Amino acid sequence: MKIDAEGHKFKEGTIQEGRVRWKSPSNIALVKYWGKYGEQLPKNPSISFTLDKAHTITQIDYRPKLDDGKLDINFFFEGKPNEAFGQKIEQFLVRQINLIPWVTQLQMTIKSENSFPHSSGIASSASGMSALVMCLLDIESKHKGVEISLAKASYISRLASGSASRSLFPDLAIWGSHNAIKGSSNLYAIPYGEEVNPMFKTFHDDILIISGKEKSVSSTAGHALMNGNIYAENRYMQANQNLMDIIRSMKEGDLEKFGAIVESEALTLHALMMCSTPSYMLMEPHTISVINEIRQYRKESKHPIYFTLDAGPNIHLLYPDNIAEQVSPFIKEVLQPYCVGGKMIYDKVGKGPQKLTHE
Ligand code: PMV
Repeated sequence: MKIDAEGHKFKEGTIQEGRVRWKSPSNIALVKYWGKYGEQLPKNPSISFTLDKAHTITQIDYRPKLDDGKLDINFFFEGKPNEAFGQKIEQFLVRQINLIPWVTQLQMTIKSENSFPHSSGIASSASGMSALVMCLLDIESKHKGVEISLAKASYISRLASGSASRSLFPDLAIWGSHNAIKGSSNLYAIPYGEEVNPMFKTFHDDILIISGKEKSVSSTAGHALMNGNIYAENRYMQANQNLMDIIRSMKEGDLEKFGAIVESEALTLHALMMCSTPSYMLMEPHTISVINEIRQYRKESKHPIYFTLDAGPNIHLLYPDNIAEQVSPFIKEVLQPYCVGGKMIYDKVGKGPQKLTHE
């Protein structure tokens, strides 16, 4: 037993004090995960672009405390104590205590901030939870003198928020097992992209903020609605097929096929919510106007510019970098006026989590 200057007692070999700081991105699904079972296991495999600008930065300052089996965490979100978020993190750590048993040895101050405004309607669980997990695994790897395993980071992130499992990898990630994809698993995501046409790694994702309102259905409740949905089994089959087809389109550089799948996936996700019991309409009138504008512009200009949606009204505008200049006037003059306060986030495909400082 050791006693520090302030009289705290802790065991020999416990983790020493320090600081870790990580930036981790959000991601946007191209083939969507909607429907789960067991402990955060997906009913179908999904694939996503890792983003860059939409990210969370999390810092943990930690020091040893008496290991009484209890957590001791202070949580600050954007500079202010945030009990609701803090409790969510505590519940998650308690649930997964077997994976990170050493957390009860530490007093931790966790500070987290998002690059995007809280009122932008962008889900922060993927970036937030993956940033937290990278910080935790960094503490552990520093202590044990081993490298962080991204598969383990993805596994633990998945338990916090399914889609967070895909934020750990550069460019593209696949989560969920598919018999034609080697190494794919329901337990964690895997990086994907070696065989993909490099053009897809230059993709822009301009996020058009149609509404900053909170989601009217939590994703937990949304996934649960799939259990009673009469289209569920067909949907899971379709997602498996779409995954195969979108991969082929990316290998072949077939933008038209890629765009058709991405848009169909977005609308299918919303259609499933509309026909659930209870039913949810997550699109706003401006969402539909923007979709129509994009399709009309694409038809006239022949530019490969497509949309996808998350479980909300905001539009993700997807296009390769080589047409960025040509499509910019259309985005600024026609689409931006539909955004609340003209708000947009000009994002791109990104490289995954990044360590910021480590003392
Ligand atoms: O990760 P969750 O449980 O918040 O679910 C997210 C599901 C969608 O964002 C709608 C689709 C996806 O695959 O990211």
